[in-house]
Amino acid sequence: MEDIHQRISEIRSDFPFFSQEGKFKDWVYLDTAATSQKPNRVINAELEFYQQFNANIHRGLYEISEAATAAYEKAREQISEFLGSQDSDEIIFTRGATESINLIAQSWGGLNLQEGDEILVTNLEHHANIVPWQMVSAKTDAQLNVIPIDDQGNLDMQYAMDAIRGGKVKCMALVHVSNALGVTVEVAPLIQAAKEQGIFVLIDGSQAVTHFPVNVTKLGCDAYVFSGHKIFGPTGIGILWAKRKVLEEIPPYQGGGDMIRSVDFEGTTYAEIPAKFEAGTPHIAGAVALGEAIEYVNEVGFDAIATIDQWLFGRAAEIVESIDGLKRIGNTLDQVGVVSFYSDQIHPSDLATFLSTDKIAVRTGHHCAEPLMKRLGIPGTVRVSLGIYNNAEDLDRLEKSLRSAVTFLS
Ligand SMILES: Cc1ncc(COP(=O)(O)O)c(C=O)c1O
Repeated sequence: MEDIHQRISEIRSDFPFFSQEGKFKDWVYLDTAATSQKPNRVINAELEFYQQFNANIHRGLYEISEAATAAYEKAREQISEFLGSQDSDEIIFTRGATESINLIAQSWGGLNLQEGDEILVTNLEHHANIVPWQMVSAKTDAQLNVIPIDDQGNLDMQYAMDAIRGGKVKCMALVHVSNALGVTVEVAPLIQAAKEQGIFVLIDGSQAVTHFPVNVTKLGCDAYVFSGHKIFGPTGIGILWAKRKVLEEIPPYQGGGDMIRSVDFEGTTYAEIPAKFEAGTPHIAGAVALGEAIEYVNEVGFDAIATIDQWLFGRAAEIVESIDGLKRIGNTLDQVGVVSFYSDQIHPSDLATFLSTDKIAVRTGHHCAEPLMKRLGIPGTVRVSLGIYNNAEDLDRLEKSLRSAVTFLS
């Protein structure tokens, strides 16, 4: 790649947030794992939709509606290709990863789980991949089985394999990359072992899809989910990919317009997939803009993204490790995008508040992963999360502010 800093500077110029003259001019944004900033072409795609071809989709026989439908369905194709699916009907637009997991937990879990069954998750999960399974467990008497981790967030692979082969696990729902620690879970061997046992597998790729290519066909899982807003797209739009066979077998999650073939007071027949899972008017502009975000990622390319990610992560980790009293969690090799740390002397909220006065945005607390924080025995961490638009100056400012914070607050 050409000079990495030159490439970051080009990428950064695609994001108007960083050249704004508004209230948040000159802020250092290090909270991309919570939500990413948006490139011009995504913002423009949404704007253009509303300005030029806003109409409801699927039912209109006039040209504007046909254009809106075509744009919405093109986004489905773009996302299908991005995930390596062979069939774009397997892409369901949802409100986000949370809704995608709830859909599978309720529709697949409600149909297939029963007393004595186990749902295998990890101790790294975001609440979005815990609570929906607890809700379906309450109805079905299935139980969660949690794969333990070590102090650096690495999974106990032996425990996982034993559980998979133990005969009780009916469903395995794993995070691909932890939002709290940036630890990447080696999902491939676990999926393979689970499929040999006929276990249903869902992967939560919310933090993975921005960092490395994902191919659901090669992975061999049954369902894969992510949120649009973490990958430079709008909020309120997300993706559930699931195998055609799964989507055809399970009941719809919500009822309403567009998901039916015919309705009678005596009974209703449902539409084919994907419409069966898209009740009501969807976030049309959001889907179109997400398609544009995916094109943007394709254009930057995962080779460049990996090089930038590696540099950013290395520099941020080096800063944290060089400051006395800060403890970073994780062992670098399998981490991406997130540097999470804490201090025995200073509360994470005090550190984050100090950084905020220097116009540096980081996230603090349990990061919607309370069971993980309990396992690590800490109230929370300070999380620096990195996007491909963060530059050397951002991290220099982080270093300066963190050093002052530790001196001032210790
Ligand atoms: C790993 C992971 N899973 C699920 C979610 C939920 O995403 P959303 O709130 O966009 O539905 C997040 C969001 O932080 C996440 O990081």
